[in-house]
Amino acid sequence: MGQEEGVRILRDKTIVLGVSGGIAAYKSAELCRLLIQEGAAVRVVMTRAAQEFISPLTFSTLTGHPVLTEIFGAGSGGPLTHIDLARAADLFLVAPATANILGKLAAGLADDLLTTTALAVDCPTLIAPAMNVNMFAKAAVQENLNLLRRRGWGIIEPDEGFLACGTTGKGRLASLERIVAACRRALAPQDFRERRVLVTAGGTREPLDPVRYIGNYSSGKMGYALARAAWERGARVTLISASQLPPPPEVDLVPVVKAAEMLAGLQERFAAADVVIMAAAVADFRPVQVAGRKIKKEDQGELNVHLEPTEDILATLAQVRQNQLLVGFAAETEDLLANAGHKLAAKGLDLIVANNITRPGAGFGSETNIATLIYPGGQYQELPQLPKLEVAYRILDAITTLPRFQRGESGPERKE
Ligand code: CTP
Repeated sequence: MGQEEGVRILRDKTIVLGVSGGIAAYKSAELCRLLIQEGAAVRVVMTRAAQEFISPLTFSTLTGHPVLTEIFGAGSGGPLTHIDLARAADLFLVAPATANILGKLAAGLADDLLTTTALAVDCPTLIAPAMNVNMFAKAAVQENLNLLRRRGWGIIEPDEGFLACGTTGKGRLASLERIVAACRRALAPQDFRERRVLVTAGGTREPLDPVRYIGNYSSGKMGYALARAAWERGARVTLISASQLPPPPEVDLVPVVKAAEMLAGLQERFAAADVVIMAAAVADFRPVQVAGRKIKKEDQGELNVHLEPTEDILATLAQVRQNQLLVGFAAETEDLLANAGHKLAAKGLDLIVANNITRPGAGFGSETNIATLIYPGGQYQELPQLPKLEVAYRILDAITTLPRFQRGESGPERKE
C-alpha cells in the first residue's frame, strides 16, 4: 500500500464529469479544480444548455482536455467517444444535474453525449441535482431520483439555502466539499459498509464557573479524520465531539462539552454500535463545585479548586459491552509501549493507538501524527509520520484485521 493511499483515494482516477444546464454549472469549474487537486484526471462532457451558462473553454483550460459536447461532428471527438469515455471512467458524476437530465437518465434516453455516456459507463455513478425548490419537490423529479437511486446511482442531495431564483429552500447544489466527499466514498474500499461507528473527538471542558473551564490542548483533528475515513469506507458514523471544528460532511454530529455528556452520548448509542473509537482527550478530573456565577478575584485571596475524577468512559463501556469493538488512544510523554499497553489491558480494548505527544509532528493540534498501534497480544506496529487522515486509514485497516471485526460480531449481522 502506498505511503498516502488513504488520503489520495482519487489519485490517478479518471472522473467523467457531466455538466448539465443549470446556473450551478459555474460551480462545476471549481469542482473540477478540487478533483484535480485530489489527483484525479477530469474529463468534462457538457450538454448544450450547460454551454449557455459556462464556456467549454473554462473546463478545457482547467482539465487540460478538450470538452466534449456532441455525439456527432465538431465537439464529438469521434463517433465512439461515449464508449472511450465510458472505458476510461473510474467514476461518472453529473453535477449539476437538472430536472431535465434526471428525467432523461431515469427514462434511459440517450439523445446527447452526456446521456449516451451515462448508459455506456460501467463504473460507480453519482448525481448532484440542483434546481428551484418547487421543481426539486415535484413528484416527477422525486420519483426519477428514487428510480435512479434504486438502480444504483449515488444521489448527492442538494443543500438547503438561498437559491439563484431568489427563493430559499432545498435545491442548491450540494457543497463542493460534500460532492468531493461522495466521490471519495464512491472509490474508497467499502470494508466498513453498514458498520455503525461511534467516534469521539476533541478535549472535554469541565466548567469552573459560567466563564471558565479546565480543558486540554486537543484539537479534535484526529477524531474528525477517523469519522471522515470511516464514512468514506461505508460506515454509518456518529461523531460525539467536544471540538469546535466544523463537522466533516455526512456524519451525524453530537456536540458535547463535559466528560459526563460524552459518556451519556455514548451510552445512549452504545447498544446499536459496532465499533467505538475514543480519540477524545477526556478530562480525568473535574471541579467538585461549579460556581453559579463568575468567581471574582476580589473575593479570593487565592483560589483552591477541589477536583474529583471523572468517569473512565472506556472502562465504563467495556463493562456493559456485548460485542462492540473498542479502540482507545494513549497520549503519552514517556514509556509509550508500557503505558499504552497497560491501558489496553486495563480498559479491555481491542486496539490502542499510542502516540508520544512530545515528538514534533505528533502533538495536539498538529496536522500529522506519529502513531504506534498496539494489539492485545502485545504485538505492535509503528507508523511513520503521516497526515491525520492517512493515520485514520491505517487505524481502520488495523481494525479490519481484528478477530471481533472479522467474525462479524461487530457487524450489521450481529443479533441485538
Ligand atoms: N479515556 C476515557 N475516559 C476518561 C479518560 C480517558 O475513556 N475519563 C479514554 C481516552 O479517550 C483514550 C484512553 O482512555 O482513548 C486513554 O486516555 P489517556 O488520558 O491517555 O489515559 P488515562 O486512562 O486517562 O490515563 P492517564 O491520563 O493517567 O495517562
